[in-house]
Amino acid sequence: MSKSDAPITSKPIKLIAAACNNMGIGLNGNLPWNLPNEFKYMLNKLTTVEQPGKKNLLVWGRKSFESFDENLLPLANSVIVLLTRKLSDLPKYVHYICRDEAEVLELLSMPPLSEEIETVWVLGGVECYKNMMRHPWCNHIYFTDIMADFECDTFFPEFDKDIFRLKENYPGVPSEIQEEKGVKYIFQVYEKDQAKQDQ
Ligand SMILES: NC(=O)c1ccc[n+]([C@@H]2O[C@H](COP(=O)([O-])OP(=O)(O)OC[C@H]3O[C@@H](n4cnc5c(N)ncnc54)[C@H](OP(=O)(O)O)[C@@H]3O)[C@@H](O)[C@H]2O)c1
Repeated sequence: MSKSDAPITSKPIKLIAAACNNMGIGLNGNLPWNLPNEFKYMLNKLTTVEQPGKKNLLVWGRKSFESFDENLLPLANSVIVLLTRKLSDLPKYVHYICRDEAEVLELLSMPPLSEEIETVWVLGGVECYKNMMRHPWCNHIYFTDIMADFECDTFFPEFDKDIFRLKENYPGVPSEIQEEKGVKYIFQVYEKDQAKQDQ
C-alpha cells in the first residue's frame, strides 16, 4: 500500500521522563541518579502492551539511546526508532532511523507500523520531548517527580499545566510516595485536555 492510500489511524503518543526538583533529567550524558526501581517502572511501561501481538514504538534521541544500557536490549514488545541527523547506519537493536518527528509519524502511517504499533513512547531527550508533546496525538506525560536536588545539565521542557493536567490515582500507576536509596519520588501522569490545546 502506498503512503497516500494508507488510512491514518491515530496512535497514542506518551512521553516518559523522570525529573528532579529543578526539572533536571540528565548530567554528562547520563541520568543524574541511580534508582533501579524507578528505572524498572519505566521499562515496564515501555514493554507492556494491552493487545496480544502488538508492539510499542520507542522514540529515542541519539544521545539518550547511546546512554541506555545495551545489556537491557532488545526490549520486549518494542520497535526502536532513533532520531538522528547524522547517523545513517542502523545501530544494533535500532529498527529505524528518522531525521525528524515528521518522519516518525510518516513511518507510523504506513505498514507494518500502522498495524503493529499500539503506543508510541517518547523517551527523550529534550528536543523530541518538546516536539512530540505538541502533537495532537500526544495524550499523556508519564512523569516521575524526583523530590530531591541533583546536579543536572539537561532539563525537561516546560509544559502548560493547564493543558496537561495532573491526574490523581491513575490506573496502573502507584500513587504513594516511593523511596529508594534515601531519595523520595512519586510516579505521576499528566493527561492532555484536548479542548484546551485546540483553543
Ligand atoms: N531522566 C530522564 O527521564 C531522561 C530521559 C531521557 C534522557 N535523559 C538524559 O538526557 C540527556 C540526553 O538528552 P539530550 O536532550 O541532551 O539529547 P538527545 O535528544 O537524547 O540526543 C540529541 C541528539 O539526538 C538527535 N536528535 C534529537 N532530537 C532530534 C530531532 N528532533 N530530529 C533529529 N535528530 C534529533 C540528534 O542526533 P545527531 O547528533 O546524531 O544528529 C541530537 O544531537 C542524557 O543525560 C540522558 O541521560 C534523561
